[in-house]
Amino acid sequence: MLNLTAPLRYGTHRLADVPWMFDGLRWMLEGGFRQHRQLLARHFSTPPARVLDCGCGTGIFAPCFSQPSYLGIDLSPAYIARARARYAGYRFQEMDASRMQLASQSFDAVIVSGVLHHMDRSLAQQVLSEIQRVLRPEGTLLMWEDVPTRGRINWLGHLVHQLDVGDHIRPAGEYLSLLAPCFQVESVEPMLSGCMDYVAIKARPHSQPLVHAPTSQYHPTASLVIA
Ligand SMILES: C[S@@+](CC[C@H](N)C(=O)[O-])C[C@H]1O[C@@H](n2cnc3c(N)ncnc32)[C@H](O)[C@@H]1O
Repeated sequence: MLNLTAPLRYGTHRLADVPWMFDGLRWMLEGGFRQHRQLLARHFSTPPARVLDCGCGTGIFAPCFSQPSYLGIDLSPAYIARARARYAGYRFQEMDASRMQLASQSFDAVIVSGVLHHMDRSLAQQVLSEIQRVLRPEGTLLMWEDVPTRGRINWLGHLVHQLDVGDHIRPAGEYLSLLAPCFQVESVEPMLSGCMDYVAIKARPHSQPLVHAPTSQYHPTASLVIA
């Protein structure tokens, strides 16, 4: 039988390279991101004074926060350009989340929306260790990540996950195990956004101090371990 998955995946990835198409497609599939906004409003009833949107893409969640409080970072120059054009007054920077050029303990909250499922375990752990570093000790991490589609008849959800650019969609438990070295989990909830299944996790950094373990090839974040 003809297997269309590979060409369809290729087409989806090319679409995702065009920021306005990426936005439009996701907006339709996810009902205008209503669930995400409600989640943010519920968990940040007191708005954080300094919030980092890690892997902000085109910045769609910037308007959920005040302009002075918000910084969005992303690896993609095209997404950052689109974010700057759409949300004037908000701050966006091109940056690799696994090597943030940001001061330690400089944020009260970090949000991560659908980023870790693009990363293998080792990279995801570097990013989480960087998030722990830039969060102040009582700060909040609120993340939501794609999980395998739950409903059998949610054929659109199954299809979208087949075509997703992220190759590391994990069950909820695997995200929890990624968080374990750096974070204490406070709440875990399933979230269905349009046809897309997520797990939403709220966590706080562990209070233990971080030490640098010696490594032959120095990288400021790769060697962080909990004392
Ligand atoms: C599915 S998109 C989600 C974008 C945005 N958070 C949202 O919900 O609309 C994943 C994003 O992660 C970004 N990303 C992947 N690896 C990254 C890295 N190492 N550092 C920063 N951003 C990264 C991609 O460029 C992309 O914008």
